[in-house]
Parts: sequence; structure tokens; C-alpha cells
Amino acid sequence: MARLLFLSLLLHLFKSAISVHEQALTTPPLPILPLPSYSQLKWQQREIIMFLHFGVNTFTDREWGDGRESPKIFNPSGLNAGQWAEVAVEAGVSLMILTAKHHDGFCLWPSKYTEHSVIGSTWENGKGDVVREFVSATSAQGIDAGLYLSPWDRHDSRYGHDILYNEYYLAQLQELLNQYGEVREIWFDGAKDPKAENVTYYFTEWFSMVKELQKSINIFSDAGPDVRWVGDEQGYASDTCWSLINRTSLSIGNPDITNYLNTGDPKGTDWVPAECDVSIRPGWFWHKSESPKSLTQLLDIYYNSVGRNCLLLLNVPPNTTGLISDIDAQRLKQFHSAITTVFQKNIAAEEDCSVTVSSQRGGKQGGFGPENMLDSDHLWTYWAPEEEGREEYWVEIRGRNNGSVRFNVVRVQEAIGLGQRIQRHEIYVDGKLVIRGTTVGYKRLHRIEGGVVDARVVRIRISESRGLPLISSIGLHFDPFWHSKFTAGFRE
Ligand SMILES: *[C@@H]1O[C@H](CO)[C@@H](O)[C@H](O)[C@H]1NC(C)=O
Ligand SMILES: *[C@@H]1O[C@H](CO)[C@@H](O)[C@H](O)[C@H]1NC(C)=O
Ligand SMILES: *[C@@H]1O[C@H](CO)[C@@H](O)[C@H](O)[C@H]1NC(C)=O
Ligand SMILES: *[C@@H]1O[C@H](CO)[C@@H](O)[C@H](O)[C@H]1NC(C)=O
Repeated sequence: MARLLFLSLLLHLFKSAISVHEQALTTPPLPILPLPSYSQLKWQQREIIMFLHFGVNTFTDREWGDGRESPKIFNPSGLNAGQWAEVAVEAGVSLMILTAKHHDGFCLWPSKYTEHSVIGSTWENGKGDVVREFVSATSAQGIDAGLYLSPWDRHDSRYGHDILYNEYYLAQLQELLNQYGEVREIWFDGAKDPKAENVTYYFTEWFSMVKELQKSINIFSDAGPDVRWVGDEQGYASDTCWSLINRTSLSIGNPDITNYLNTGDPKGTDWVPAECDVSIRPGWFWHKSESPKSLTQLLDIYYNSVGRNCLLLLNVPPNTTGLISDIDAQRLKQFHSAITTVFQKNIAAEEDCSVTVSSQRGGKQGGFGPENMLDSDHLWTYWAPEEEGREEYWVEIRGRNNGSVRFNVVRVQEAIGLGQRIQRHEIYVDGKLVIRGTTVGYKRLHRIEGGVVDARVVRIRISESRGLPLISSIGLHFDPFWHSKFTAGFRE
């Protein structure tokens, strides 16, 4: 008996040695440039982050202050940044960005370079520091902090003088990035009244200062370098959305920059993924008369931002008390819980479905099989087809024993650590074309227009790609909140 055991152990060892050996023979596909940095990959996986527009506008009921506001009006008597961070945690958010200075030039921290700040406010007799409270609260909740420092400054008299203003701006960047611990994103807003004074922003100097002071930060500006603007403020990305752009062509001057930023560029030489900024309310700042968007609207934004290879930067403005209004906090919680409801269950992985592919790199033992699309790793394990030259790349999902699968959302994700590749894809249900899509990127979500589908065979076909398509995850999901225009009987 012992001998038999020994023999079978030996056989087992022998077998695993063979499979290790065979795996080693299959060379993984080469990445295709450009590639995301480590910080950009971390950023992308956050999916939803939060913006906090807060400042003198909160008290004047305006969106763009003119810089002539008295600092005295800033008095959020019940300010509690801990509440902001709790709201973020309950919404599943891991990074919050605060407007340390908006266009009105009023600073939420006691800057040494201006009087126009919390120092002159009624709040805490001028001894308070909102940025400090913000970073302490985020770090206490284990979430990351980001800061917004408006380039356009309507208060400071140095604005209008290139060198003077850039020196002032760099000094404030130093304050924010030296004194408040780790900052994971810095936001350089491109907004400006076209009639305002001309100032050349010394972006090269700003960016190098930022990278010098913060090692794992992502820099947002209209055109990157790490994160780009999606080109609108509605939270909707373009149907085609590359994380690639050519930054050289941008600095030379692109006539249709918004459109270019919207879609990205399949020939782009730089990895600069897009961020979709939108407010939960009509305005960016809190206004008594406004209320938050409905759950349906927020889900629509989610599918059209995160579901189109972007990050959603959702603004939730604190009110004049210095707290996030309860109605916004409740709506965020609903939003988070709805997303969890839809995506926690992957029908393709859980209901004994069979997943087959057109071909697989290195054969059955190659290590690049369809099972890699069903595990929890959405970056580094992936399905890879045989080398190029094949006519067809597809994944097919079938119900158990030819039974049907019931879903209304299809999810496809690329192994973006090896580059963004897919240019065109289609989804067929029982042989019928239901979705015609373009880019995929980190995450692509399709809601089926016709409503709920009962399908025996779902095929995801990749019809055009930069090199081999590499798919890290697929999912079939059921969204109970999705009632397409063809389905009657549902109103919120
Ligand atoms: C800013 O510069 C542009 C281009 O040189 C010019 O057309 C515009 O009049 C200038 N604006 C101001 C306020 O000086
Ligand atoms: C990027 O843009 C620059 C400037 O327009 C151009 O010279 C270069 O060829 C572009 N690169 C690619 C790959 O298109
Ligand atoms: C701000 O929000 C908090 C929390 O919901 C609430 O208690 C407070 O009354 C609000 N302040 C105003 C001015 O609405
Ligand atoms: C599923 O259907 C296919 C094609 O109709 C058939 O070849 C196969 O035997 C069926 N499998 C099962 C488990 O019924």
C-alpha cells in the first residue's frame, strides 16, 4: 500500500514537472507600446473617485467666484471632514480630490504666500486648515487624497504676469505637496474665461516639481501627462475611447482638441487614460436649490464612463455647514449598492457555463486558456489566442447542457498591462448580432438594448485589433435596474 502511494506520488510529481516544463515553452505575448505606469494601473482600478468642490462659492451660491469675495464669508461652522471620508468609504470610493483653491483664488489652507485664505475667515478664528482636516480624515479611513489647485486665479494680482504668477503657483504647489503627506492625484483644471488675462502656464516646471515631491502621484490636466480630460463634464465618455494619445501633436496645437481627447488615438505614443468628471448635482458647488441626480442617471453615467474604459470622478459638494448633505450620501450609497448587485455575480463563471475560444496560445497546457477570463485577476491573467494570421478571434459562452443563460449586461476587459489592443468587437446572441462595439480597454460594459436575454450561445468576436487581442476578464451580468426603451412598465 505504501509502495503504491509512493508510486502515485512519483507519478504525480512527474506529471507536474511535465506541465511546468510545457508552460515554460509557451512564450507569453510581447506587450505593445505604449504601456501604463504602475500608478496609472492603480488609478484605473479605482473605477470611481470623488471630487469635493468647496470654498467661498459654497457661501455665495455661485459657481465661478470673481476673486473679490471677503474671506470672512467662509464659515462652515459644523465642518467635519471625517464625515466626507465616511461617505466615501460607504460609496466604495478609494480616492477623494479637494479643491484647495478654485478660480476665485481663495485658499482652503493657510498659504504663506497670500492673505486670501482661511486665515482671513471667520471659521475657527482664522486658525483652521481645511486641507489638513481633509488629509487627516482620508488617512484615518484608509483612503487616498488628491488636490486641485486652479491655475486660473481671479484674485491674485500676479495673474497676468507670466514669471511672477508661475513663481507664486509653484510656491503653492510646494506647500501642498510637501506638507500634507502623500497626494495621489493633482488636478490642473483647464477652465478659464476666454476674456481673462493671458498667462503662459509653465507646465514643464509644474510637472517636474510635482514628480519631485510626490512619487506615486498622477497628474491630471486636459492633455495629461498621466490622466487626461475626457472632453466634457457630463460624465460620458466617447463610444470609442483609447487610453492612447500623441502628446507631441497636442503641444503643437490641435484644432479639434476636445474631440481628440474624447476618443484618444489608436496611433498614440503616450498612455494617458481619460477621466470623466461630473457632479452629482447640476452645479459643482453646493446650492440650496439643487438636488442630486437619480439612481438611473448615475447608473447611466457609470456604464458610459467606467464601462467605456474611463475613470468616473464624481463631485459631491459639501454644504455650508461643512458636511455632505444626507440626500447626496444616501444616493451614493444606493449607487454603490446597485453596482455591487449587478456585478458581484458573473453568470458566465457561476452557472456551470462552458467557455470556449477560437484558439489558445500554446494549446491546452500553454497557460493562456479561457479560465483566465473567469478568475478574479482582471489584469495579469488573460486568454491569448494563437499567433496572428488567424481569421477569427472569439470567445463563446454556453449554458450548462445547452440550457440557456439569462443576462442583460456583457462585460469585456483587456489585459491593459500589455497595451490596449481591441479596435472592433461584436457580440452575438444565438447567432444574431446584438452589439457592435469598438474599443474595450480596461473595462467595456454593454447593456443589451432589447432587455433581458435568454441565450444558448453568446459569442464575443474580436474583429480588429492592434496585434493579438488579450482578454483578462469577461462577464455576463443581470442588471435589475436596466429597463431599456423596449421594455415597458418601469418608471423611477
Ligand atoms: C490673449 O492672447 C490671444 C492670442 O495671442 C489674444 O488674441 C487675446 O486678445 C489675448 N487676451 C488678452 C486679454 O490679452
Ligand atoms: C506625433 O505627433 C508628432 C507631432 O505632430 C508627429 O511628428 C509624430 O509623427 C506623431 N507620432 C505618430 C506615431 O503619429
Ligand atoms: C448639511 O448636511 C448635513 C448632513 O446632512 C445637515 O445636517 C445640514 O443641515 C446641512 N446643512 C445645510 C445648510 O443644508
Ligand atoms: C449541445 O448542442 C450541440 C449542438 O446542438 C450538440 O452537439 C451537443 O451534443 C449538445 N450538448 C449537450 C450536453 O447536450
